[in-house]
Amino acid sequence: MKKLNVIPTPEEVEMLGGTVNAAVLDRLTKQTDETGTYGDEGYAIEIDDTGVTVTAKTDCGFFRAEQTLKQLKTGAEVPCLRITDRPAFAYRGFLIDSARHMQSVDELKKLIDAAALFKFNKMHWHLSDDQGFRIESERFPLLNSVGSYRDSSDFGGEHIKERYGGFYTREQIRGLVAYCAERHIEVIPELDVPGHATALIAAYPALSCRRLAIPLETKQGIFNNLLCAGNENTFDFLFELLDEISELFPSKYIHLGGDEAPKTYWEKCPKCRARKEELGLKNYDELQGWFTNRLIARLAEKGKQVIVWNESLNGNNLDESATVQMWMDRRGKSAVWANRGSSVIACPFSYYYCDYPYSMTPVKKTYEYDPVFEGVAPIMKKHVIGVTVPLWTEYISDFDRLCYMAFPRFAAVAERGWTKPDNLDYESFCRRFAAVTPLLHRLGVKPAPQSDWDPNTLNRLTKTIRFFKDKIDPQTIKNSLNSTNRQE
Ligand code: ACM
Ligand code: ZN
Repeated sequence: MKKLNVIPTPEEVEMLGGTVNAAVLDRLTKQTDETGTYGDEGYAIEIDDTGVTVTAKTDCGFFRAEQTLKQLKTGAEVPCLRITDRPAFAYRGFLIDSARHMQSVDELKKLIDAAALFKFNKMHWHLSDDQGFRIESERFPLLNSVGSYRDSSDFGGEHIKERYGGFYTREQIRGLVAYCAERHIEVIPELDVPGHATALIAAYPALSCRRLAIPLETKQGIFNNLLCAGNENTFDFLFELLDEISELFPSKYIHLGGDEAPKTYWEKCPKCRARKEELGLKNYDELQGWFTNRLIARLAEKGKQVIVWNESLNGNNLDESATVQMWMDRRGKSAVWANRGSSVIACPFSYYYCDYPYSMTPVKKTYEYDPVFEGVAPIMKKHVIGVTVPLWTEYISDFDRLCYMAFPRFAAVAERGWTKPDNLDYESFCRRFAAVTPLLHRLGVKPAPQSDWDPNTLNRLTKTIRFFKDKIDPQTIKNSLNSTNRQE
């Protein structure tokens, strides 16, 4: 059946025959779904020549219905129909990395509006990394005066010898959280620990094993600078910082990172070694599990739940309340995590990462990835709570480039997150995306042209090689391979 020009495709559409002028959609009646048939985000829409009736249980459901109506309105005529709709997955996120390159508040708002159009409900905001800390901190001012600025930017082919940085003020953060809340999007801040923590350590060197003053990193990579797990001051600092972050972000979840944390310095550090011995731990991955569990316990007291990247499972001792975000998991631990009844989010590197070119990750490949990933037992699939499409920004310093890399991928992942598998159809997705593109343009978001989405084999090869030659510094690739081998 020909699909409506709506992304994500709704669950059920019944054509009632005939069409009406799109202006009829302005005649809107809202009706409360007393029985809760459509759930917290679902809704029903009925269009006939008298107007539109939307039925939903929550404000969120009405808002999601509005996004459907906006997209239907792109044509001059709208079919008379009945839609009933609800999401396949409860967690539908997009990640924006504001640590490597910042976006202005206005740019973030445009991105949020575009994400809301496709019914995303989580903004995973990556605000802390080796190259910058981006939250205004009242309790730890050096996080801003030192930790928010790097001396230069040396990402792949780019070498900019200017100091770069800044941070989002508490007022800006509160404003963006409110902006998202109006769109029924929860903002989940990420404080990446114990690795990817150079900005924290540059500001407060005593938090690291070596206690040396170091500058922020200016390149992409995996770095050995970890917060010291043997030092109680680390926990005093993190507890206080997390209190501050919890106050700023009312979200149910806080993301604690946990990815790419080589244990080189932990292995040499007398305090970390003593801590491992005292706790009777077998290895330093277990020490990372213990480190994360302490933060999880602290956040639980504040009513917060934690999300972590899948490396946090390597010690086999992560608290079962943690939700694991699977991005690169050759050991299959995330599937085992779901099979044990804990929650996972699909965020697969080779399918969803928007910082890589379309030649490497064509849109069709993104679209066709099943978020209930390999290894998850069919009866445990409900523990895959959803998806996140990440937009890392080492190589993305301007908004047009960001939009080019993100769209249509965001829309493809949004459809995977919302639409039931039987209703998925890539050919129709392409056509529908073309129909909704004017809405994105109106928001100031320019997607990649369709000719770039799914290159032929020759282009895939040549453009991917060119990307790696131009962008990725050979030392970064070497470090990543070493780190991955160490994890295996
Ligand atoms: C990641 O891409 N390091 C989560
Ligand atoms: Zn240490």
